[in-house]
Amino acid sequence: MSILILGIETSCDETAAAVVADGREILANIVASQVEVHRHFGGVVPEVASRRHIEALNPVIATALSEAGISFSDLAAVAVTHGPGLLGSLLVGLMATKSIAFACNIPLIAVHHILAHVYACFLTAPDTTFPLIALVVSGGHTDLIYAASHSEFRLIGQTRDDAAGEAFDKAARAMGLGYPGGPAIERLAREGAPAALYLPRPMLEEQSYDTSFSGLKTAVVNHLHRERQKGNPVNLADLAAAFQAAVTEVLVTKAFAAAADFKVKTILVAGGVAANDYLRERFREEASRRHLRLVIPPPALCTDNAAMVAAAGYYHFLRGDFAPLTVNAVANLPL
Ligand code: KG4
Ligand code: ZN
Repeated sequence: MSILILGIETSCDETAAAVVADGREILANIVASQVEVHRHFGGVVPEVASRRHIEALNPVIATALSEAGISFSDLAAVAVTHGPGLLGSLLVGLMATKSIAFACNIPLIAVHHILAHVYACFLTAPDTTFPLIALVVSGGHTDLIYAASHSEFRLIGQTRDDAAGEAFDKAARAMGLGYPGGPAIERLAREGAPAALYLPRPMLEEQSYDTSFSGLKTAVVNHLHRERQKGNPVNLADLAAAFQAAVTEVLVTKAFAAAADFKVKTILVAGGVAANDYLRERFREEASRRHLRLVIPPPALCTDNAAMVAAAGYYHFLRGDFAPLTVNAVANLPL
């Protein structure tokens, strides 16, 4: 009999619930996005996000169960993101999950959001083996992780300022492209030439797995400012392509350097920015050149979703790693 886990994700602006069997088969994966609400404000407004989660969560859970063709009594456990993320948003998902665990008398599993992103890779390729290097590039994180087993994840590099996704969002805002910036830059970059102008690759040469993208964002702002002062029309497609290429080159370089240093044969890439097609292609090229195994989930499993939470929950379940009903949400939960 398969182990059915309900996953719940409310750490930012997506209200999501999913049912996954044995950590590998998605029976339902429902995501209610709030992006249209937050677009008006140019970014996620935490107070608005939590209120929306409260409205959306019950129907999203009900839809996930009915699409999976199961009821609460079929669940082996319920897993939820308890950090990092927006505190008010996290609490909505956590309280709902506690209620389900208590009412159904099933284990509660508390999942780290960044590890959930990593587990989207195990969902995509359940035969993935350790040791490995995982790169999670999201709106709030640029985390490079060395993992020796399902219970040994070690953070070896992170952002010193803006995360990769944050840099996409800020650069897009400077270019007048709106929120969220990642998909907007990717669309525009398709018509541009990355070599049309050169933008800095911060920390590329440094012997560190840390990243820093705020200087790159400033370079975009300065370029726009300079060209406009000269009265030149700015080719935004070229600028978007150059920006995307600069971010990608830094990420590819750091991830493959870590793989070589730690002597691993597998690289996982996940998080919202990993939905970017240009980045995916560059990682694929480099992995095939170096004969490494690369796993990048399909785009819908890169951005926030609950299937990845349920998948992570499955591996917690196998080792009996459950949380008490007193577990709290932690906005800056360390890895
Ligand atoms: O993982 P995610 O959905 O949420 C967080 O945990 O933060 O990541 C959201 C981030 C945003 O900054 C968004 O602009 C970026 O991922 N993103 C992209 C793309 N799709 C989403 N960045 C580049 N290219 C994309 N296609
Ligand atoms: Zn995320």
